[in-house]
Amino acid sequence: MHADKTAALSPAPVLQLTMAFYGSQALVSAVELDVFTQLADEPLPLEEAERALGIDPRGARDFLDALVALDLLDRDESGYRSSTVARRYLDRREPTYVGGYAMMAKHYLMPMWGKLTDAVRTGAPQVPTGGGFFDGYQDPNAARPFLGAMDAVNAQVSRELTELVDWERYTSFVDVGGARGNLAATLVNRYPDLGGTVFDLPQIEPFFQEHVEALGVADRVGFRAGDFFDDPLPQADVHILGHILHYYGAKERRQILESVYESANPGGGIVVYDRMIDDERSERALSLLGSLNMLLTSDGGREYTLGECHDWLREAGFEVQMSEPVGGMDVLVFATKPSAAS
Ligand SMILES: C[S@@+](CC[C@H](N)C(=O)[O-])C[C@H]1O[C@@H](n2cnc3c(N)ncnc32)[C@H](O)[C@@H]1O
Repeated sequence: MHADKTAALSPAPVLQLTMAFYGSQALVSAVELDVFTQLADEPLPLEEAERALGIDPRGARDFLDALVALDLLDRDESGYRSSTVARRYLDRREPTYVGGYAMMAKHYLMPMWGKLTDAVRTGAPQVPTGGGFFDGYQDPNAARPFLGAMDAVNAQVSRELTELVDWERYTSFVDVGGARGNLAATLVNRYPDLGGTVFDLPQIEPFFQEHVEALGVADRVGFRAGDFFDDPLPQADVHILGHILHYYGAKERRQILESVYESANPGGGIVVYDRMIDDERSERALSLLGSLNMLLTSDGGREYTLGECHDWLREAGFEVQMSEPVGGMDVLVFATKPSAAS
């Protein structure tokens, strides 16, 4: 009886998880070879695809068929073509391209994840010598795909954010750590009476100028260069902290929230979004794994629960108004500063 029960218990889930990186690596290699741009427009038969992609016949068929099985390519009698989702998000000519994440995974995240055991044992990040996340801005070729990948994620959040907050009550906002202004551009395009400022590190300004000019909002979104630990934030009705708080420990997080509170106009608000963990800490596996990503990449950061976010906002003086899942992977919280507050 006992033996039967054991036999029925398959090791497949454990083995599938063990090999889950095969799929990640296949995607990374396909992005590196630019498979999805090259196969976006028309299907190519196997041999033509081998030539176009510069890949050897020995692995080509299995590689391309594996991408079919992963729903990233379609295959019919005329050959292989990028699937609908790959044409939208992995064709590098599209504004929605997220392949920059795959390259960031290859060069930055995967080597660090290989050191997860050390990080868990010691509590120390495993950032390679030569720099952290934001040092990459020195090299435009490294920075642009990273910024593009962030934008592909925040574009979806931005679209939802335009409807989640009653923006007509407000006249100004600051996107704190707003990178090259993608979210700010979506807000001012939807609400022409809103004035927006991006507050970010000085080295991001050239990327900001390039992007807001391309989006046609250079006259409506300004840039304030600064460091949110050293410089006061611009005064505004609403401040936005998107994918910022998870990067820091308690002291820095408190400092950022206090600084936002000080520069928020009474009656104004704060928007926070991050890949928050569910309050039971058991359902959102990718958020919990994302928290380990923060262990690996930052000095004191971690993902946090919605309850913690509410507590921190209240401690800073804000009143929580609403929380909603956004963009497929994040949770967004909106809180207000009391009108009578100074
Ligand atoms: C993970 S990105 C988030 C970008 C954007 N908010 C989003 O949701 O996609 C963090 C941003 O914070 C900026 N940043 C990091 N440290 C900063 C600091 N000390 N002062 C101001 N900006 C900072 C980075 O340059 C980057 O643009």
